[in-house]
Amino acid sequence: MGSGLSDMDRKTTVKFSIDRVKEDELPELIDLYLRAYKGLEEYAYTHPKDVESYLKWLFGRDKEGFFVAKVGDKIVGFVGGDANWFSRRERKQVGAIHEIVVDPEYQKHGIGKALMDTILKYFQSKGLDTAELWVGDENTRAINFYKKFGFQEKGRYNYWIRMTKNLK
Ligand SMILES: CC(C)(COP(=O)(O)OP(=O)(O)OC[C@H]1O[C@@H](n2cnc3c(N)ncnc32)[C@H](O)[C@@H]1OP(=O)(O)O)[C@@H](O)C(=O)NCCC(=O)NCCS
Repeated sequence: MGSGLSDMDRKTTVKFSIDRVKEDELPELIDLYLRAYKGLEEYAYTHPKDVESYLKWLFGRDKEGFFVAKVGDKIVGFVGGDANWFSRRERKQVGAIHEIVVDPEYQKHGIGKALMDTILKYFQSKGLDTAELWVGDENTRAINFYKKFGFQEKGRYNYWIRMTKNLK
């Protein structure tokens, strides 16, 4: 079902804020994650229980590096970053972006960019010099999004592409 909005209407400004996630907000992220990955299921968990475990794992990795975007009280996106990640490829500690998603209803309003800017700043505040992520090789929207921030492809594993960005 379309919302009936034209492209012009979609580009109206959406006011949002970025905060650290609270543990009791994690269940709210399950449905958001599943909706954001519609059409990209080969790169995502598809069972709500698996998504729940994954979100708990993300939160456990680095509570400080897990941010949500909110429109009013509604969570419309999140980034699961990790300043404690040891990259085997880099052979050093890096800032890993394990997950970034924005509610399809709120995409293309700069929310993904704000989440990305927040996590990169966080990694820098931790003294890290490299950010790393893995993205599905046919997820061109995300790949192009990352390239805009200066991420570059640095090899692959099966159908996953590894990308890194220098933070210095
Ligand atoms: C990748 C993702 C997080 C980007 O989120 P987003 O909120 O749409 O990101 P932004 O709005 O900051 O930028 C996306 C695009 O909107 C454009 N844009 C940003 N603000 C805009 C505005 N106010 N008006 C019009 N366009 C705008 C950006 O220039 C960018 O353009 P592009 O598509 O040509 O690159 C989102 O698409 C998503 O959740 N995808 C599914 C999950 C996924 O694949 N995650 C990555 C896994 S590795």
